[in-house]
Amino acid sequence: MQLERILQKHGFGTRKACRAMIRDERVAIAGNLLADPFADIPTAGLVFTVDDVDWPFCEFASVLLHKPAGYECSRKPQHHPSVLELLPLPLRERGVQPIGRLDEDTTGLLLLTDDGQLNHQLSSGKRKVPKVYLATVKHPLDAGQIGQLLAGVLLHDEPQPVAAAAAEIVDELHLRLTVTEGKYHQVKRMVAAVGNRVEALHREALAELILPPDLAPGQWRWLTAEDYQNLGVAR
Ligand code: URA
Repeated sequence: MQLERILQKHGFGTRKACRAMIRDERVAIAGNLLADPFADIPTAGLVFTVDDVDWPFCEFASVLLHKPAGYECSRKPQHHPSVLELLPLPLRERGVQPIGRLDEDTTGLLLLTDDGQLNHQLSSGKRKVPKVYLATVKHPLDAGQIGQLLAGVLLHDEPQPVAAAAAEIVDELHLRLTVTEGKYHQVKRMVAAVGNRVEALHREALAELILPPDLAPGQWRWLTAEDYQNLGVAR
């Protein structure tokens, strides 16, 4: 694929802008600066460098973000910055968007992608992808609350009771809850339905994909082949 087209595909602007970047010697492969925008570059396993930052060639861009509190999962946020501001501009330009939503004050694992099929696979209610949350609650937890969460609770506007796939008391004020739906404020509403209140919420995992402990809030990384396996999707 032509170098200029590779840059364009990866969100670095119009063909003209990409050509200028190449001619300005800002683009390299394996340490060699490339000045010909029309050079034909094999894309298999390609990693190119723009302004000393590495970019793997990828048909689709899919990343894992440790979402901090204070960011909205929307392209057009209302009161707080968008999570997209935590990603480099070329990823935003490619059109990556969050897979599902976390509330502004929720922290933890968030996937973003420009791969519509992946987004659909992971957010479709039919697949029932487990989402594991750690909730800090206001009042001491007891076995009765856990029993109700597992049996199912009625939420406003939901015709059927909604049950947790798993629920365990971590300590008096911490609850680990797994849900397979992605309903609006689901965990907060479920906890409220059993007479308690979520004070803080953190998503620890999606299916078998666990938020990497070394990924600080606000940091992101590319999804790996192992991550796809842990998510139970083929890529
Ligand atoms: N449930 C909630 O209540 N909020 C979230 O952000 C995610 C799940």
